[in-house]
Amino acid sequence: MSHIRVEDIAFVRFSAPDLEAMATFVRAFGLECDSPAQARLYARGWGPSPFLHATELGDPGFRALGLRAVNLDDLVHLADTTGRPLEDFDAPGGGKVVRLTDPDGYLIEVVAGQSPIPSSAVQVEEPRNDARNKSRLRRPVRLKPGPSHIQRIGHCVLGVSDFRRSETWYKSHFGFLTSDEVEMAPGAAMGAFLRCDRGAAPSDHHTLALMQLPAGPGFAHAAFEVADFDDLMLGHTHLAETGRYTHVRGVGRHILGSQIFDYWQDPWGHEVEHWTDGDLFTADDAPNVASLVDLVGAQWGKPIFAS
Ligand SMILES: [Fe+2]
Repeated sequence: MSHIRVEDIAFVRFSAPDLEAMATFVRAFGLECDSPAQARLYARGWGPSPFLHATELGDPGFRALGLRAVNLDDLVHLADTTGRPLEDFDAPGGGKVVRLTDPDGYLIEVVAGQSPIPSSAVQVEEPRNDARNKSRLRRPVRLKPGPSHIQRIGHCVLGVSDFRRSETWYKSHFGFLTSDEVEMAPGAAMGAFLRCDRGAAPSDHHTLALMQLPAGPGFAHAAFEVADFDDLMLGHTHLAETGRYTHVRGVGRHILGSQIFDYWQDPWGHEVEHWTDGDLFTADDAPNVASLVDLVGAQWGKPIFAS
């Protein structure tokens, strides 16, 4: 039995020496934020979460992963079973937080009771025509140039020093389920894509991925769901046209999770991903074993690590 079951990722937090520069980047990436205040920057999407991306003033780095408990009772139970304090969460939306440290020293902030913000409806676009279905008739597609419209944060990928140790820790604390375990060679697991256990309700193919990489532990990337494929490509075009930011890889479609992906770097090299059209599974779906080729390959577009 795990301590609790988390229902989703809540946010990622970084530190950076220039919050105005981070604000400029996250706006171009498709998040909304006010001017930095009290050495903190909080950025939100179009969905109800009070923030998805936070930055504190300091040397560049990854600072924390936020996970969302199902309710406050579960958070109290997590505090009781881990011996960690239940604290007020001093961030937009308030609520409570329990702070834990994972086996590699990552700070994990489990939150509950955050107040949602009014969410903006996803833009209703004209339907798309394909070879089988032509439902847009006598009307053109006219998209408004600009950043993507980020709806929510979807997942975070962390490099770990000992995959099995970390897997045990995250599953025992939060009830994660394996979607795909990745093997370097038959029988030699190097990591896994883990999803939340929401019972019969669908959950993203992965909310957290743990990878034991030759480079050792370290933040790999965080991924944000955009409205749809056009919205992803609008955002790609917008970021490219700024001429200020580094594109890492994409656009392509992953094998594991099936998402259409596009990866960029913030001004300090933290990787952030736009994605759309990912797989969803329930607790009844069995884990799968995948290969390194599956991990780094793509169904179309450039595979990971291709130049
Ligand atoms: Fe990703």
